Amino acid sequence: MTLILWAIFGYLLGSVPFGIVITRALGLGDLRQIGSGNIGATNVLRTGNKPAALATLLLDSGKGAIAVLLARHFGGETAGILAGGAAFLGHCFPIWLGFRGGKGVATFLGTLIALHWPLGLIACAIWLLTALVSRISSLSALLAAALTPVFAWALGRNDLILVTSFMAALIFLRHHANIRRLLQGTEPRIGKKS
Ligand code: G3P
Repeated sequence: MTLILWAIFGYLLGSVPFGIVITRALGLGDLRQIGSGNIGATNVLRTGNKPAALATLLLDSGKGAIAVLLARHFGGETAGILAGGAAFLGHCFPIWLGFRGGKGVATFLGTLIALHWPLGLIACAIWLLTALVSRISSLSALLAAALTPVFAWALGRNDLILVTSFMAALIFLRHHANIRRLLQGTEPRIGKKS
């Protein structure tokens, strides 16, 4: 019963769409009508407001991390994993936005850092290195997501293979339009509108 409550807590926290909240508060327009229409930091950057994009990145990753840390502290390891997975799910399918949410990358990274910081750092490093080379946010996310379950296994964290595989699979599904553009060679670089 307690585990279900932690999952609900994680889901509701993950459902808070910080990209939408921040862009609305700053009068930057309707994020749904800008760039890819996604609610994440990459798309907030397309408004041209870098601090807003950074705040979105930190808050979207922070909500995943907070969900894990609180649930684990008060409910134990399994509660932490469940709350983190649920926060990620909340970002992708937020109750506050009629279940039409984001692609989950920042929340995935924040959740990972709280679950097992070395694994989180590895995922961030893969994202960063790929982004430095390609300047493409979605490609960086897809590579980091795909390799994370492998690194969970390599680091002996078999308890994290299921949740990281689940998150990676959902990240791929949420990026279907990006994958199509990547294959066509039309995916925009970071900061570019098209
Ligand atoms: O984190 C989301 C990123 O991978 C892709 O975002 O706006 O380019 O679809 P976007």
